[in-house]
Amino acid sequence: MTVRAVVRGVGHYLPARVVPNEAFADRLATSDEWIRARTGIERRHFAAAGETTASMALVAARDALAAAGLGPDDVDAVIVATSTPDLTFPAVATMVQAGLGMTRGFAFDVQAVCAGFVFALANANALILAGQARRALVIGAETFSRILDWTDRTTCVLFGDGAGAVVLEAAPGSGTPLDRGILATDLNSDGRLRELLYVDGGVSTTGTVGQLRMQGREVFRHAVEKLAATAHAALDRAGLTSADVAWIVPHQANLRIIAATASRMQVPMERVVVTVQDHGNTSAASIPLALSVAVAAGRIRTGDLVVTEAIGGGMAWGAVVLRW
Ligand code: ACO
Repeated sequence: MTVRAVVRGVGHYLPARVVPNEAFADRLATSDEWIRARTGIERRHFAAAGETTASMALVAARDALAAAGLGPDDVDAVIVATSTPDLTFPAVATMVQAGLGMTRGFAFDVQAVCAGFVFALANANALILAGQARRALVIGAETFSRILDWTDRTTCVLFGDGAGAVVLEAAPGSGTPLDRGILATDLNSDGRLRELLYVDGGVSTTGTVGQLRMQGREVFRHAVEKLAATAHAALDRAGLTSADVAWIVPHQANLRIIAATASRMQVPMERVVVTVQDHGNTSAASIPLALSVAVAAGRIRTGDLVVTEAIGGGMAWGAVVLRW
C-alpha cells in the first residue's frame, strides 16, 4: 500500500501592524511607485515589540490544528522553517511544542531561508513515508524585520513578518498521481552562491545577529532560471505536467519573479496565488501564508493539484507537488 502525506488543515498569523510603502519614502530615497513597479509589494506586516517568531508560529499552529479538528497530542512532529529564531537555541519548534501543550512527539527547526518551508514539507513527507510520524505540523515563521538594515533601500522595503502552518497526515493512496497528498518533491542547493544573499553576523563569527545583505539583480536572475526548473523536475517525478496544475503557490518575493516563473511553466497568472502585495517577502512563512489565505478565500479546494516552489539564501531552492 502507498502512504501519502495529506494536508488536513492550514492556518496563519499576521501581526496587526501594517506598513504601507509610503512609510519608507519619509526616510529613504524611494517611493510607493518604485516599490510597486519593481516588486509588486504594496504593504507588509511587522511584528510588535513583544511578538517573536515562536509566538507567531504558535498562533498559526493553533489555527491549523483547529482547521484540522485535532488537538496538540494528536501530532507526532513539529517542524518549523525559520532563519529568524527567538534564540540561538533551543529550536523554535520546541517552543511551539511547549506552547501548544504537547506532552509527546518531537520538534526541530529547518533553516533553508526562503526555501525553508519547501524543505520542511519535504522532510515531514519523508518522516511520514518512513513511518516515523503519522501527523506532522509544518510551520514557516519569520521576523525578518529584526535583521533588516533600515538604511538600505535595496533590501528593507522587500520583507515582512508572519507565520503559516499546515497539518500533514498519513493516508492510504493508490500510488498514482490521482492520490491526494504530496506526490513529489525536488530539493537543491549550491553553497558557492552564498555571497548573493546572506546575513553578515552569527554566533561563531561576529557574535551578533547581523543584517541581511543581497545582490538583488543576481538573486533575481537565479530565481527565474531555477524556480521553473525545480517545479518541472518535481512535476516530472510525479508523472504530471504543467497542464495538470490547478494552482502554483510560489514563494512570494517579487511579482516579476512569480510572473516570469509562471510564464516559463506556461501556467496563466489566473492559476497563481499571489499575496506579495499584502505580505511582502516573509521568507519561509510566505508559502504557508499564501496557502492559508487561498484556502480561506475558497480558491484552493480538495482535489486541486498544487505546486509550491521557492528559492533563497544558500542558495537553496526546491518544489513540492501535492494534491489538496
Ligand atoms: N527605491 C528606489 N530605488 C531603488 C530601490 C528602492 N527601494 N532599491 C534599489 N533602487 C535603485 C538601485 O539603487 C538602482 O539604482 P542605480 O541604477 O542608480 O544604481 C536601481 O534602483 C536599479 O536597481 P536594480 O537592483 O537593478 O533593480 P531591480 O529592478 O533588479 O530591482 C530588486 C531590485 C527588487 C531587489 C530585484 O532585483 C529583486 O527582486 N531581486 C530578487 C530579490 C529577491 O527575490 N530576494 C529574495 C529571494 S530569497 C529570499 O527571499 C530571502
